[in-house]
Amino acid sequence: MADEAQAQLPSDNLVAVRDLTREYKSSGGLFSTVRSMRAVNEVSLDVPRGKVTGVVGESGCGKSTLARLVLRLIAPTAGRVMFNDTDLASLAPAQLRKLRRSMQMVFQDPYSAIDPRYTIRRALLEPFEVQGVALGKGEQEDRLLALISKVGLSPRMTESYPHQLSGGQKQRVGIARALALSPSFLVLDEPTASLDVSIQAQIIGLLEALKQELGLTYLFISHDLSLVRYFCDRIVVMYLGRVVEILPGARAEACHHYARTLMDSHFVPDPRHRKAVTPLVGEIPSPFNLPPGCAFAERCPAASPLCRRERPLLSEHATGHLVACHHPA
Ligand SMILES: Nc1ncnc2c1ncn2[C@@H]1O[C@H](COP(=O)(O)OP(=O)(O)OP(=O)(O)O)[C@@H](O)[C@H]1O
Ligand code: SF4
Ligand SMILES: [Mg+2]
Repeated sequence: MADEAQAQLPSDNLVAVRDLTREYKSSGGLFSTVRSMRAVNEVSLDVPRGKVTGVVGESGCGKSTLARLVLRLIAPTAGRVMFNDTDLASLAPAQLRKLRRSMQMVFQDPYSAIDPRYTIRRALLEPFEVQGVALGKGEQEDRLLALISKVGLSPRMTESYPHQLSGGQKQRVGIARALALSPSFLVLDEPTASLDVSIQAQIIGLLEALKQELGLTYLFISHDLSLVRYFCDRIVVMYLGRVVEILPGARAEACHHYARTLMDSHFVPDPRHRKAVTPLVGEIPSPFNLPPGCAFAERCPAASPLCRRERPLLSEHATGHLVACHHPA
C-alpha cells in the first residue's frame, strides 16, 4: 500500500508524481536467488509551475532514477507521472515523443549524450531532427544563434568541438540543447556537480535568468544542500528510494532526523549561524534487504522500538510540510 499522505501543494502543479516505483532485480551469481530492490519506492510529489523543486539525498538514494522516471526515459514498475494533468502512461509512443518537446533534461556531464565528433552547431540542431521539426536554412541559422546567445556563448563557437570547450561552456551547450524545442519543464540532474565553484555560480545564475525569461519550471537534483537552499523554492529529501521529508520553503527547518543531519552537515554559509554538526554515522542498510521499520533507524539518535517495528508514513507536519518520522525533531 502506498503512503496515504500525498504531497499537498498549490493547485497549479505542472508535474504530479504518484506512488512512483522502479524495481531492479539482481542475480548474485549462478546458484544464488534473484533479489530485487526499489531504487525509487512509492514516491509522491508535486512540481509547482514556475517554481524550482529541489531533490536531495546521498549518493544512490534514487535521485537520477526519479529524474528518468519523471521524463519517462524509463518506465515505472508502478505509479504515475502526470504532466499538465496528462498521465504519461496513457500516451501512445508518437504522442509521448511530441510531449518530450515540453520536458527536457540537463545532465551532469552534458556531453555524455552527445557524439564528441559533433560541432556545437550539430549538437544544437540535432533535437530538431530527432523531433522531425523541419527548418529552412535561414531559420536554422536564426534558431542556432538565438540559442547560443541565450546561454551566453559566442556565435563564433558554432563550429567548435567539445574538446575545445571548458566545462562551463559545455554545460551551456547542454542547457541550449535542452532549450532547443522551447520546453516548459527542465529536469536538472546535478548540472553543476562537475564544475568549479565560480563556474557553478555562473551556471546557476544562467538557470535563474532563463527561468525568469522563459517562465520555466525546474526539478533540480543535487546532493549539495547549500546550493539547493539557495536555488530552490521547496525541497524534497530522499533516503533509500523514499521521500522522507518535503520542506515547503528553502528556509524551512527540517524535522526528519536524516534530513536534519544532512542539512546541518552542509548548510553553514554564515559561521555566526553555524550549528554543532552531527555527522551521519552507522551503516546504511542494503537496498536489497531493508528493515521492516524506518530505514534510518540504525543511524538515528532518536530511534525507538516503534521506529524499528513500523515504517513511518509521510504525513503533514505543518502546512505544505510533510515528514515521515515517528518522533520528528
Ligand atoms: N539500471 C540499473 N540497474 C540496476 N540498479 C540500478 C540501475 N540504475 C540505478 N540502480 C540502482 O538504484 C539505486 C539508485 O541509483 P540512482 O542512480 O538513481 O541514485 P542517485 O541518487 O542518482 O545517486 P548519485 O548521487 O550517485 O547520482 C542505486 O542503488 C543504483 O545502484
Ligand atoms: S522514524 Fe524513528 S528512526 Fe526514523 S527518523 Fe524518525 S525517529 Fe529516527
Ligand atoms: Mg544521480
